[in-house]
Amino acid sequence: MYAENFNLLPHIKFNTTVLKVSILPDKRWKVKYIIKSKNEEKEEIFDFVMICSGHYSKSKWPKFKGMNLFKGEQLHSYKYKRAIDFENKRVLVVGAGNSAMDIAVELTHVASQVYISIRSGKLPWIIPRFLKGKPRDHINRFSAYIIPPFIRGKIIENSIIKSFPISSHLKLPTDPLIATFSITNSEIFQCLAAGTIIVKPNIKELKSENNQIEFVDGSILENIDVVIYSTGYYIDYPFLEKHIYTGGDEIEQVYGKDFHKIVWLYRSIFPPKYPNIAFIGLTNRAGSSLPICEMQARYVTSLIKGFIKSLPSQNEMERSIRKHYENSLKKYCKSARSGIRYNYLSYMDTLSKDIGCYPYPYEIFKKFGFNFWKLFMFGMATPIQYRLIGRESWEGAKDAISLYNEYSFKNSTRGSKSYKSWIYILIVLLILLNRNGGFKKSISVYRKIFNK
Ligand SMILES: NC(=O)c1ccc[n+]([C@@H]2O[C@H](COP(=O)([O-])OP(=O)(O)OC[C@H]3O[C@@H](n4cnc5c(N)ncnc54)[C@H](OP(=O)(O)O)[C@@H]3O)[C@@H](O)[C@H]2O)c1
Repeated sequence: MYAENFNLLPHIKFNTTVLKVSILPDKRWKVKYIIKSKNEEKEEIFDFVMICSGHYSKSKWPKFKGMNLFKGEQLHSYKYKRAIDFENKRVLVVGAGNSAMDIAVELTHVASQVYISIRSGKLPWIIPRFLKGKPRDHINRFSAYIIPPFIRGKIIENSIIKSFPISSHLKLPTDPLIATFSITNSEIFQCLAAGTIIVKPNIKELKSENNQIEFVDGSILENIDVVIYSTGYYIDYPFLEKHIYTGGDEIEQVYGKDFHKIVWLYRSIFPPKYPNIAFIGLTNRAGSSLPICEMQARYVTSLIKGFIKSLPSQNEMERSIRKHYENSLKKYCKSARSGIRYNYLSYMDTLSKDIGCYPYPYEIFKKFGFNFWKLFMFGMATPIQYRLIGRESWEGAKDAISLYNEYSFKNSTRGSKSYKSWIYILIVLLILLNRNGGFKKSISVYRKIFNK
C-alpha cells in the first residue's frame, strides 16, 4: 500500500540481489547485481548509494570446547523460526541479548525445560514493555531534556527491582542501566520466578556422552537436545569492502587502537571519505528504530536533492565522529556497538534541525496554542512531531499527535500523573539549589549515595 501510494513500484527491481558495490576512480559507485529469475548479472553506475539492507546477517558463533563432539542440535538464533519445532525438548539458549530472552520465553510454552547461559553470570537490565502503565519507549520531551540521564536510569532501575519477582539467587547487573544495553522483555521475570527458565553461567565444555554440558561453575546439565546460540551478529555488509564503513587501517594509525574496526560514520550515516554513500539504520538507541531510519532517509534525500546545507568537510566529519566515540566510551560500557549508540531524542532533534523540520517549542506554542504545547512537551514524543512545522510538514500531524496521546494517557493515567508531579518537584528543587550554587554539590552527594 505504501509503495503504491507513493508510486515506488516502477523504481524497485524485485528478485534482484546486489553482489558488489565498489567505488570508481571518479568517485561514483559501480553496483553489480543478479536478477535471480533470469540468472542474469548486470552492472550499473550510480552517483549516490543508500545502504538500507540492515546489518544483522553475519551471525556470531561462540567457540566452546567439544562443540564438534556434541550430539544434540546446535543452531544460531538467526535460524530460529518457530517455537513449535522444539516441542518437548530440553533447550539451552546461550546469550543474554534481546534474541536470547525472546526465544527463551517463547520456548517455555512448548519445550520441556529451558535454560539460559549468560557468560557474565549476571542478568542484564531487563525493562518490561510497559512500566507503570506506559510503553517503555514512551519518551517525553520535557523529562528527556530536564531530568539528568543517571537519575532517569536510577528511577527505572528501582521500579524494575521493586515491581518484579527477582529471586535472591539471581545476580543483578552491577553497571548502571544507562551505561549498558538494556533488554526489553515483560515475561522473562515470571519465567525466572517460576523456574520455566533456569539461568546458568558460561559454558565450559560440551560433551558427547549423554548430551552433557558443563558450565564454568562446575555444574552439569544432561540430555540437552538443542543449543541455540543467541550470540549476536558482526556488523557486516557482504557486498561492500569493510574499510568503507570502518575507516580502515588509517583510522587506527591516526586515532589509536580504540578506533580500529569500528563503524566510522558521520552521524552513523556517512563515511567522511565517501560522502556519496549513506548507511541507514546503523544505530543503537533506547528508542524505536523505524523513526530513526525515516529521519535518516529524510536527511540523506534532502542532501542529495540539494535542499539543505551540504555536509561538513572531511576533517570536520572525522573530528565529530571522534568526539562522539570518546563521549560514548565515557558514558557506556565498552562494546563493539558503543560507537553507534545515540540518544534517541537528541539524535532525531539534531537531524531534524538540519532538515528544517525541528519542532521549535516556541513555534509550536505560537502556531497551536498552550493546550497543544503542553501535549507536545509532556506527551509522547512521537515521530509525528517532526511533521508539525517546517519542511515536509503534514496538516494531519496535530490531530494525529492528540489522538495518539489520548490513547496512551487513557491507559496510563495513574502513572503519568505521579510521574508529572515528581518532575514538577524536581524542577523546583533544581531551581532552588542552583540559586545557592549548590547544584554541582548536590549531584556529587547523589553520586556518593548511589556509589557512582
Ligand atoms: N524484541 C526486540 O526488540 C529484539 C529482539 C531481538 C533482537 N533485537 C535487536 O537485535 C540486535 C541483535 O540482538 P541479539 O540478541 O541477537 O544479539 P546481541 O544483542 O549482540 O546479544 C548477544 C548476546 O550474546 C552474548 N555473547 C556474545 N558472544 C558470546 C560468547 N562467545 N559466549 C557467550 N555469550 C556470548 C552477549 O554477551 P555479552 O553481553 O557478555 O557481550 C550478549 O548477551 C540487538 O540490537 C537487539 O536489541 C531486538
